[in-house]
Formats: sequence, structure tokens, C-alpha cells
Amino acid sequence: MGPLVRFFRGATLLGQTPTKDDQTLVEHALEAGLTLPTNCTSGTCGSCMVTLLDGKVALPDVLPPGLDDFLVDEGARLGCIQRPSGNVDIEIRPPI
Ligand code: FES
Repeated sequence: MGPLVRFFRGATLLGQTPTKDDQTLVEHALEAGLTLPTNCTSGTCGSCMVTLLDGKVALPDVLPPGLDDFLVDEGARLGCIQRPSGNVDIEIRPPI
């Protein structure tokens, strides 16, 4: 089996799907049967924010408006624009 993106809430595995380098985290979630909240789908609003637990989700050279250095240090990633590579574990944040 190839690399997987796994989605957790706490210790619960909600779903998983094979990693596809050209797809965003939101698209991976859909393939895993999960719907991440989205609004702008352009990295501005932060609605789709998830937490990177393990693995690699590359950051853009210039942080989008929906992220800042503090959030990134906390593991925040934006599902609508960011793409995982390899094995990645993601925590889905509870709705605010
Ligand atoms: S949906 Fe707005 S930042 Fe992702």
C-alpha cells in the first residue's frame, strides 16, 4: 500500500485515503468520506483549517491571509489550498 492521508479527531480515525500529490487536503477528505468546512477556498478565511499531526504538508513561500507564523507553529494548515505528500496525519478541528 502506498502513502496515506489519515484524518483524526482526537484518538479516533475518521477516515483515510491514498495520498495524491496534486490534490488538496479538502479533496483528500472528500475521498475519505469527510467534508471539511470551506468558505473562500482560496486560503483567506481559515474555515478549512486543520492541524498537521505528522508528515509533510508544504507551506507556500508567502503565507496566505488565513495563516500566520503562530498558527503555523501550532501545526495549522489550510485544507482548501495545501497539499499533503507521503504519509500525513491530520487532526480535524471541531467547529467553532
Ligand atoms: S476555505 Fe477559506 S482558507 Fe480555506
